Amino acid sequence: MMRKYVLYFVAVLSCILIYTSCYYDKASLVYPSSKSCDTTNVQLSTDLNNIMSVSCFSCHSSANASSFGGNYNLEDYNTIKTAASNGKLLSSIKQDGILALPMPQSGAKLSDCNINKFSAWINAGAPEN
Ligand code: HEC
Repeated sequence: MMRKYVLYFVAVLSCILIYTSCYYDKASLVYPSSKSCDTTNVQLSTDLNNIMSVSCFSCHSSANASSFGGNYNLEDYNTIKTAASNGKLLSSIKQDGILALPMPQSGAKLSDCNINKFSAWINAGAPEN
């Protein structure tokens, strides 16, 4: 009588063990932000301004542009929109030397992920979002 239940219990337990031993997580699914770069729906007012606060506004904010930023005020939408459209913005941060001087001036190059964010925003038409 009892034996039947014990056998049943062992059978269920081994099924669970077999099943869980074959279970595994894909790191890219469990930790989506660890390696991938989210370039969907990039916002100028948050995503890009956060990057520029760290790397650009010390020279290109409204307050600093005339003294340090060659009068390029990147807090001004029309200025960044123009630089986005004529290719100078991307050329400067890619530091390809084709259309614009390498930026940030005398600073570390932006990460590939951050460059891709600018690129995605420019490809979306450089919206005032
Ligand atoms: C240390 C100061 C400094 C920092 C930081 C800086 N810039 Fe500049 N940037 C300048 C100056 C000065 C000029 C004007 C250079 C000139 O015309 O000779 C300039 C020019 C530019 C231009 C026009 C380039 C051209 O050749 O017409 C762009 C676009 C630009 N910056 C984008 C950026 C971006 C984007 C960042 C941040 C990733 C950044 N800059 C960071 C100082 C800076």
